[in-house]
Amino acid sequence: MSQATTKRGGFGGKLAAILAAAGSAIGLGNIWRFPYITSENGGGAFILIYLGCILLLGLPLLIAEFAVGHNSKCNPIDAYAKLRKGWGWLGAMGIVSVFLIMGYYFVISGWTLNYTIASATDSIGSDFGGFFSSFTTATWRPLIYTYLFIIANHFIIVGGVQGGIEKASKVMMPLLFAILIILAIYSLWLPEGREALTNVFTPDFSKVSGSTFLAAMGQAFFTLSVGMGAMLIYGSYFKDGTKIAGTAISVVSLDTLVALIAAVIIFSAGVENENGPQLAFVAMPKVFSTMPLGNIWATLFFLLLGLAALSSTISMHEAVTSYFVEKRGMSRNKGAIIVTVATILLATAASLSLGDWSDFKIAGMNIFSLLDNFTAIVMLPLLGILTAIFVGWLWKSEDMKAELTAQGGVDKATYPVIRFLLRYVCPVLVSVVFVFGIIEFIKNL
Ligand code: PHE
Repeated sequence: MSQATTKRGGFGGKLAAILAAAGSAIGLGNIWRFPYITSENGGGAFILIYLGCILLLGLPLLIAEFAVGHNSKCNPIDAYAKLRKGWGWLGAMGIVSVFLIMGYYFVISGWTLNYTIASATDSIGSDFGGFFSSFTTATWRPLIYTYLFIIANHFIIVGGVQGGIEKASKVMMPLLFAILIILAIYSLWLPEGREALTNVFTPDFSKVSGSTFLAAMGQAFFTLSVGMGAMLIYGSYFKDGTKIAGTAISVVSLDTLVALIAAVIIFSAGVENENGPQLAFVAMPKVFSTMPLGNIWATLFFLLLGLAALSSTISMHEAVTSYFVEKRGMSRNKGAIIVTVATILLATAASLSLGDWSDFKIAGMNIFSLLDNFTAIVMLPLLGILTAIFVGWLWKSEDMKAELTAQGGVDKATYPVIRFLLRYVCPVLVSVVFVFGIIEFIKNL
């Protein structure tokens, strides 16, 4: 099996662990996805349900995944197999899912790069929708930016856990927080911003339906990167003595804070009615163009999006690469190259599916939407249910207890709460929402 376990890399300390894991969590999910999902689902009421999902489902699952990684000190496949014979497939399922997510996530990441450059050089023009659609449906232009992004990601991974991931996180995360705070202060300073905000955050429960819960749960899992091995592999790099529960709470708090601040920035620009995924790429540049020093704000905004994306994609890549390195006995370089090449192929298909290949559809969806929907609607809930069952019921309970209480910093009184959430609340709640979601999805096909 894993010949590399003895000389595995690891994070230097607690701060590195928090920054890297927060980097994985904070991504396009927070700045691009959260605001538009919130506006599509009734604003404040959705946010309340979302916070419930984060606390009751996301946080316990994140603790569980960190614990599995930290206890086993293995890649996702060996980790589950080590804690219970015959369960390696659960790790494999996570790795496959995270790879499918990489396929479309890198495409959007490439867009952020193009938009950062276009904003800095003032070359978006005044037809914002036109710029977006002609760029994203073109053949080569989006591909080139996506490839550049994938290559940057590749070199961070090749640099190693401490020399690559940790170092990059320590530079990128503070920069990300600084940009976020500057943009937030600026938007709250605008009077129309403050007004837009009150409107959006006022809960309107008439808009809540069954699908609101599904959207909130999917968003909670996606934003915390749970179930897919990314957090597991980071947990496996935690230094002994890193408090698992404390780290998870820091990551969840930072992630939630960033999502809420991103929503403040976007909604205060008064664009909450612009629809869907184009919110960040069409509506925001339009708003920035009417502001003094608009180019600077736009450049900062897209740089923020790009940094968030990069710190997330390195965790996805690492989850898959660790499999090739530890399970297949390859060098880090070779493992990373395989993952990078495979990602380039999948991302190419996803990008082309918006333009040249848009006629090719499976179940009515192009490749890009298929990757997004399949992972969000099927794989994420399924992995959530299975991870909770694994940790709550199948992992030897004394081992889990020891991992969380003795080393993980969970006190004896809190442990039963986490265990209860993992054993009962997560499997039941996620299953109900999952079944409901699948039915809804099939009806809409
Ligand atoms: N959490 C990331 C985001 O919100 C996405 C992600 C998913 C990262 C899966 C790693 C693994 O954008």
